[in-house]
Amino acid sequence: MVRSPIVSGTTRRAVCPGSFDPVTNGHLDIIGRTSRLYDEVIVAVLVNQAKAGLFSVDERLDMLREVTAGYPNVRVESFQGLLVDYCKAQGASVVVKGLRAISDFDYELQMAQMNTGLAGVETLFMATNPLYSFLSSSLVKDVAKWGGDVSAHVPDLVVVRLAARLRGPASGEPGA
Ligand code: PNS
Repeated sequence: MVRSPIVSGTTRRAVCPGSFDPVTNGHLDIIGRTSRLYDEVIVAVLVNQAKAGLFSVDERLDMLREVTAGYPNVRVESFQGLLVDYCKAQGASVVVKGLRAISDFDYELQMAQMNTGLAGVETLFMATNPLYSFLSSSLVKDVAKWGGDVSAHVPDLVVVRLAARLRGPASGEPGA
């Protein structure tokens, strides 16, 4: 059954969810473009108890807040549990996801259809800027772990935090 859409007054509010471990220029491109289409954008970082990231959720929030500071209608929060419950609590009826390639599509379609069925939350897929179509947080972490240059792929602040985390004196083994 498809539920009726969530309505929240006249404010058009979208959620950009993800792990953001860490935020990349691809994420930032989607967030920025979404901010031009909606009155408010909530960047929602999943708190995933089952999977420890390279960065803690607080660190990811911190980086996201810094790199989105120039967008007055973007706020950054974390969430736990179902994305649709978070969207309902925030009065957001739309999730915006970037689609890099057809390989993203299968799983994204499953989630989108589940989310519409669960709560009437719609998912809009935004075509990724071709500059970033190969980019993922995992790839960035792998390249950075072995000393590769990721400065074209993530904001400067993230380059610095990656270096500190992966090769800093307190980090132990690369990738720890
Ligand atoms: O950046 P990611 O890891 O691709 O983001 C995936 C995310 C956070 C959007 C997805 O895992 C999610 O929505 N998780 C929340 C739990 C949930 O609602 N699961 C059911 C999805 S149909």
